[in-house]
Amino acid sequence: MAKHDKSDIGISTLLNPVPVVMISCAGKDPKDAKQRPNIVTVAWAGTINSEPPMVSVSIRKSRHSHKLISETGEFVINLVNKSLAKNCDYCGVRSGADEDKFASCGLNAVKADGLDYAYYISESPVNIFCKVKEVKELGSHDMFIAEIVGIKADSYLLDDEGRLCLDKAKMVAYNHGEYFVLGEKLGFFGYSVATPEVFEKRMGYKKDRDKYKRLREQEPKKGKKY
Ligand SMILES: Cc1cc2nc3c(=O)[nH]c(=O)nc-3n(C[C@H](O)[C@H](O)[C@H](O)COP(=O)(O)O)c2cc1C
Repeated sequence: MAKHDKSDIGISTLLNPVPVVMISCAGKDPKDAKQRPNIVTVAWAGTINSEPPMVSVSIRKSRHSHKLISETGEFVINLVNKSLAKNCDYCGVRSGADEDKFASCGLNAVKADGLDYAYYISESPVNIFCKVKEVKELGSHDMFIAEIVGIKADSYLLDDEGRLCLDKAKMVAYNHGEYFVLGEKLGFFGYSVATPEVFEKRMGYKKDRDKYKRLREQEPKKGKKY
């Protein structure tokens, strides 16, 4: 069988890989066990607009978090790195209706400034504060469409000019039901048309001559530069 022979494999939510994130939220009375800060794992999350910056997260009505987010209109998207992966999975198989997931995972809840009720996960490298603008009932899931109103990042991820270097964070992606830590950097936005000088600078050519050679050899023959 030739390598690119195709088979029909049915219709499903197969778009992969996707981000997997830990959404933190809380009710209006954090001292009430049913409203305390909670964490829900979500893979149906995405960026949907640049100006203003907006995201969507799709959550089933049956989730405890659905109630909390519906009540307050707030949540925080906490990005997941390698050291959070197990907690991320745990928060996706246990309900905040039955337990305090911050306590079970040994994670710290910190009040999100600019939001009235939501907390963020201190151990997550990047925390994205969101305010719900609209809810769309799609069928199995309700899609919360939200505007980003603030972001915190671990300081070690910032370079001398204050730019975020997310490649240092050992980020996790979710691919067809499995978690992976991101591996080899292949390029950057526009690298297919970058000059050799820009490519070398951005990819650290001087530090890794063999890797640069390997990447160049992978490029399509018709490529304009290099
Ligand atoms: C990797 C992973 C991804 C998930 N993605 C979603 C999702 O996108 N939407 C959703 O409603 N539930 C999703 N879940 C399931 C919820 O996280 C799970 O039902 C959780 O226990 C609900 O917690 P809660 O009752 O405290 O809100 C996911 C679970 C895992 C492990």
